[in-house]
Amino acid sequence: MSQRRDHWSSNAGLVLAATGSAIGLGNLWKFPFITWENNGGAFVLVYLICIAAVGLPIMMAELLIGRRSQKSAVGALKEAVASKWPGGRWLGGVVGFWGVLAGFILLSYYTVIAGWSLFYFVKTMGWTFGGYPAGMSAGDLFTGQALNTGLQLLLSLGFSVATIAIVYFGVSKGIERIARIFLPILFGILLLMLVSALSMSGAGEALAHIFRPNFAELERGAVLEALGHSFFTLSLGMGAMITYGSYISRKHSVVKASGAIVALDTLIALIATVVMFSVIFSVAGMRDEVGGSTVGMLFISLPELFYSEVPFGVVLGPLFYVLVALAALTSTISLLEVVSAYLIDQRGITRKKATTGAGAAIFLFTTFAVLSIPGLLGVSTEGFFSGIEIFAGKVGWFATADHFVSNWMLPTGGFFITLAAGWFMTRESTRGELADGSEPRWFHYGAWRFFIRWVAPIAVAAIIVFVIRGTDFS
Ligand code: TRP
Repeated sequence: MSQRRDHWSSNAGLVLAATGSAIGLGNLWKFPFITWENNGGAFVLVYLICIAAVGLPIMMAELLIGRRSQKSAVGALKEAVASKWPGGRWLGGVVGFWGVLAGFILLSYYTVIAGWSLFYFVKTMGWTFGGYPAGMSAGDLFTGQALNTGLQLLLSLGFSVATIAIVYFGVSKGIERIARIFLPILFGILLLMLVSALSMSGAGEALAHIFRPNFAELERGAVLEALGHSFFTLSLGMGAMITYGSYISRKHSVVKASGAIVALDTLIALIATVVMFSVIFSVAGMRDEVGGSTVGMLFISLPELFYSEVPFGVVLGPLFYVLVALAALTSTISLLEVVSAYLIDQRGITRKKATTGAGAAIFLFTTFAVLSIPGLLGVSTEGFFSGIEIFAGKVGWFATADHFVSNWMLPTGGFFITLAAGWFMTRESTRGELADGSEPRWFHYGAWRFFIRWVAPIAVAAIIVFVIRGTDFS
């Protein structure tokens, strides 16, 4: 084991950094709109079950695989497979590399959407001081900025540089330090928004819509959508949590950390949804408008509403987009860390060279994503951006990459990770990592083992089968 490996300075540091990875556009953007599309209630309940039955066990699996080997995705999965099948190291390596590739591709377009939050931050700031321009069309504003290639390149370049600058400083001095500052700010802003949203007239209806299950409204595809999303939102399936797990020292409990990360991610997604629905339900006619473009909720419906409907919206507007930007940034740093850690651990490249080199290479693909935005307007895709009229068919890098990562790479990677932890690793080794005497009361090793060997792989295999059969997820 290399002595110089950087570690999280404390358990809280790990929890904050991993929660930062998990909380992102998936929580603030995607979860609210898929909840909307699937009529709330029953969908939310199914989602919570998927998080508990599949997300939590895989979270523990990824962290334990990383902690055990003290290596990032590729090296860790090689060792995991080799514990029962020494000749199978190559397979672990292939799957680890598949994850690194997924991180590379995901980061290349995630940055573009992250850049939009910067645009809306500056815009809403301007309205706070100069007033909301009367008669402006929110849809035109969105499309206008998205089609302005120069602006898009500038925004995503800014976001990439910020990401590289943080990962450059390493695990404890870069990633953990930023998470320690940003996550509390993020929670603070969201609580402020929650208080303000609950005082609005639509709050009661919003809560009922989200938390009162009506199973008659639940469509079959919704279960798979909930399952797929529970994967994406927890940053699972591509070795991000394996990599973060490799920086956990022996003193800290993987189980407690997993519980905290999963709980916080879920809480934030629910709060964000309550906030958005309260705003929408408080405005007459907004319901139908949102129905037309659920995906535009975050960047089209909300900006205007802040200035016309939300109490203290002039202050909360810009704060909200800071929140989105911070959430996205703590996700992009973990994506870059997956790629960089591979170069550092497996290729012996220095951190400085790995982060700047990988960051630059990824940005090249970000420019492809930006250039493909115009081609995306007006069609419909099945990946992370499913059902969006704005993002469309599999034209160009943006949609192709998203389709491939969300539908293929994360589920196949995740399926293999369940096998690695449940079937390839020995009972003694996983037991030693998880049931180390400091695990919380609610944890039961036998239950975990059952979920990781049977429930999680079968559930993930179901997603893959449905993707292969071309089932429409939305
Ligand atoms: N969880 C992030 C979100 O909700 C997105 C994501 C998926 C991710 N996989 C990841 C982030 C891996 C970092 C690393 O937005």
